[in-house]
Amino acid sequence: MKSIVILISGRGSNMEAILRARSTTNLPVDIRAVISNRPDAKGLETAAAHHVPQRVVDHKDYASREDFDRALAGTIDFFQPDFVVLAGFMRVLGADFIAHFPNRIINIHPSLLPSFPGLHTHRRALAAGVKIHGATVHLVTPDLDCGPIIAQAAVPVLPDDTEQALAERVLAQEHIIYPRVIGWLAAGGVTCLPPAPSNAGPNVLQFDQLPVRHQAGEDFLRVPGGE
Ligand code: GRF
Repeated sequence: MKSIVILISGRGSNMEAILRARSTTNLPVDIRAVISNRPDAKGLETAAAHHVPQRVVDHKDYASREDFDRALAGTIDFFQPDFVVLAGFMRVLGADFIAHFPNRIINIHPSLLPSFPGLHTHRRALAAGVKIHGATVHLVTPDLDCGPIIAQAAVPVLPDDTEQALAERVLAQEHIIYPRVIGWLAAGGVTCLPPAPSNAGPNVLQFDQLPVRHQAGEDFLRVPGGE
């Protein structure tokens, strides 16, 4: 069975969706720990309620980003996970940290990447007047929110949408696709291939030079009203 460590910074609803999927759908994944960079993260209480070990590596305790990254990597290493799952983890991780877990860190971002990397995605989507918005699960590379895309969920932007209404519509889809991708990882269904033009094909998404193949053959564009 594959194992993961989940990193959070706050509410932890995506983390909770993964914990729930493990209990209710027998998601075959060993959740070794939840680590927060904020001692007051609400998600830590949720992790405790699910009897998952919790750790805090408070970024404020470290003089530099590099020192924090090293402490965080050491804490993760203690649990020896196959994958590191970022779920609302609000710190930018340095290249050395990412190289320490090559192709083993995934993130969920609340936009249809490569549109709207960074913060305030829903506000920016509304300001841009896009008609479709969504969320992306991707591999983490040193360039922020630029790693190879594994899955996306799309939602409509409605004429009278507020930032909050749009955020809630996207979040509901995040809670579906993130556990789904964890399931693919657990089943060995996501493979990173070395960059090569010959790897391009109908079931391969080329992005940031590193293609990701979904061996489960389950590429999907989720829309509300589906399952
Ligand atoms: C989610 O929208 C996620 O996509 C983004 O931060 C938010 C975290 O929410 N990275 P939660 O902590 O999982 O509830």
